Amino acid sequence: MACLFRRAIAAKLSRTLQHPEELLLPALSAAPVFRKQQTPDFKLSVSLLRSKGILPTTADIQLQTEDLTRQLKPDNVVEDISAGSGTINFTVHRPLLVQKLLEPFEADAGVEFGLNSELLKTSERGTILVEYSSPNIAKKFHAGHLRSTIIGNFIANLKQVLGHAVIRMNYLGDWGMQFGLLGAGFSQFGSDSKLKDNPLQHLFEVYVRANRDVEHDDCLKLEARDFFRKLEQHDEKALGLWQRFRDITVEEYQRVYERLGVHFDVYSGESLHQSQSQDVVQQLQQRGLLRTTETGAEVVDLSESGVCAVRRSDGTTLYITRDLAAAIDRKAKYSFTEMIYVTDKSQTTHFQQLFQILSALGHSWAQSCRHVPFGLVRGMKTRSGDVVFLEDVLNEARSRMLHNMSQSKTTKDLEDPEDTAEKVGLSALIVQDFRGPLVSDYSFHWDRVLQAQGDTGVFLQYSHARLCSLLQKTTELEACRLDPSVLSEASALSVLQHLLRFDEVLLQSSQDLQPKHVVNFLLKLSHLAAYALRELPVKGSPTHVAQARRCLFRAVCSVLATGMRLLGITPRPTA
Ligand code: ARG
Repeated sequence: MACLFRRAIAAKLSRTLQHPEELLLPALSAAPVFRKQQTPDFKLSVSLLRSKGILPTTADIQLQTEDLTRQLKPDNVVEDISAGSGTINFTVHRPLLVQKLLEPFEADAGVEFGLNSELLKTSERGTILVEYSSPNIAKKFHAGHLRSTIIGNFIANLKQVLGHAVIRMNYLGDWGMQFGLLGAGFSQFGSDSKLKDNPLQHLFEVYVRANRDVEHDDCLKLEARDFFRKLEQHDEKALGLWQRFRDITVEEYQRVYERLGVHFDVYSGESLHQSQSQDVVQQLQQRGLLRTTETGAEVVDLSESGVCAVRRSDGTTLYITRDLAAAIDRKAKYSFTEMIYVTDKSQTTHFQQLFQILSALGHSWAQSCRHVPFGLVRGMKTRSGDVVFLEDVLNEARSRMLHNMSQSKTTKDLEDPEDTAEKVGLSALIVQDFRGPLVSDYSFHWDRVLQAQGDTGVFLQYSHARLCSLLQKTTELEACRLDPSVLSEASALSVLQHLLRFDEVLLQSSQDLQPKHVVNFLLKLSHLAAYALRELPVKGSPTHVAQARRCLFRAVCSVLATGMRLLGITPRPTA
């Protein structure tokens, strides 16, 4: 819908400037909306036209802006054109704006609104592999893993609705020396029944205890080394136990991911690339990229990012070696056009080195690999202490939310309160996490996160629920012909103007992979809608006015739901 207008304005500009529409389109965007101030619908950036060579840079930019504005005349799409500072403002005829924006919501729910925009079809579609979550077996699932899980899920959702084929991959930390300790520890103080009843907890306990005991127990140390050696040599018994640990962990995670609404197409892991890792070292050797240090380790010299070890003196490979092998294997298997890794920012150098070595090996596709780094979360604790398992966070969010709901009149007697509390609690976590730039650290406070007012996920859910209930109570107005002339109030128009931005916001998030654009768009939409709900009653208004207003709120409700789903939030109630 926004495209339609953008195109009409670009066509107009094209006639005046004698440049093709396609070149002019990127300089046009929906203008930001302010509640208490009238704003135009679209803005043209004159400086962008200058930087693209469409307008000369020698002339004064303001004079140029005013001159161009004078040459453009209103027509049957645009009713007003005015010069701003370095920008030209366009305002579309009001009834046309209402008609075109609300058309998709008249007959059905308009679920495709924004997603099928021409703007989003400009980049080529491909296969995008998104690797996220990637916890380590028997270790903590910390806040970083939670961030990776929800951010990766968002990126995958977004790329998918934009028409790419997406492969969602979980790359488990399922190999390395720690499995020696885990194996040896389990044979000493592991319990089959505990492993069955509470697998993650038990594996973690065994691992923690083995780590502690090994400090003073040389026998355990030897056994651990022996167990890992057996694993590396594919000893059947050792491998069998390891496989059991892995299978049980994946099964447990799958269950918890389901609560989060997250799934993976592939559970991969470091263990899968042992022999390939040795091949990679050999290829590096053949290309003359390898150097042996005095201690016998084999390293690659990377001018800017220092020296990177790829094999220990005892011949075992490292984290990065397995990542090199994994990347090459994924390219061969999935022939992705882009690969995205989501981890905390402490791994930034690791991924730089990874991509550099891939390039040095002649893999030009390393250019299409991206690392999305994120910052630390401070203070994410549950009542019983630190977060150890993903499920702890979910349970804590649910119980706190349940408590808050029982205190409030509107949510006291909901159906299935447990499930609602879980979904709403989760939205609170997600919105808090996505509001700022991903790379920033933040401090976590349950009370602040779960507030119903202010820019929180609870507020988003609340806004959506309020709209749903209005729609439900006014179904008699459904299936109407919309009279666009009756929506002329500033509060209605600002909602519509804001909707014009939706496809641009999606594009922005898809380009810089930052969810904040979508989150802030939805929060603002909720605020604008709250204002409109106060100003524009549906009940008690003349039928054609009530119908038009209902259609406006239906649009907001639908776009909110679409946006929330993209973020990984389940709107409650599910409309
Ligand atoms: N398992 C790792 C950790 O917990 C994260 C893996 C990230 N992905 C990768 N391809 N290295 O830190």
